[in-house]
Amino acid sequence: MTEILAIYPGSFDPITNGHLDLIERGSQLFNHLTVSVLTNLEKEPLFTVQERVEMLQQATAGMRNVSIDTFSGLLVNYALQKKARVILRGIRAFTDYEYELQMALMNRKLEPSLETVFLMPAESYTYVSSRLVKEIFQHGGSVKGLVPPLVEERLHSKVFPKNV
Ligand code: PNS
Repeated sequence: MTEILAIYPGSFDPITNGHLDLIERGSQLFNHLTVSVLTNLEKEPLFTVQERVEMLQQATAGMRNVSIDTFSGLLVNYALQKKARVILRGIRAFTDYEYELQMALMNRKLEPSLETVFLMPAESYTYVSSRLVKEIFQHGGSVKGLVPPLVEERLHSKVFPKNV
């Protein structure tokens, strides 16, 4: 059987435990999983691409068949260039479904040879998002258990640089 390479694309600003849970699940399903950070975000990110890549690399250091990469432009073009067969995305709750379905179908229209595979993170992460993590942290709330400890440290030095 041919090996299956899957791409898990996203902003990862920053990686959360929900992302990490999905990466672990994906790494057990596919021969290789490439987690790819979109470099040309429409929204202003908190972390630079380099910082996001470093956090992903550190958080996935123990996973043998996972690598970290970046991409720009159309996801389908990047996936073809990498010879990937699968795009991996997470669905946390019903609210994610409409956006994810639209993207998956559009990507299929652009490139029918690619399949989007959806996985659900553990229930305990269904309410975790990078956006909420940043918001909570910026207002002094605790994000313990929502992101890996290394991300918590990075959030500290990014958001409260004088306290480090
Ligand atoms: O983590 P996000 O921000 O929800 O990830 C969105 C992402 C990066 C998967 C999506 O914006 C994307 O694929 N962008 C690349 C440009 C592209 O191919 N757009 C058409 C998607 S149908």
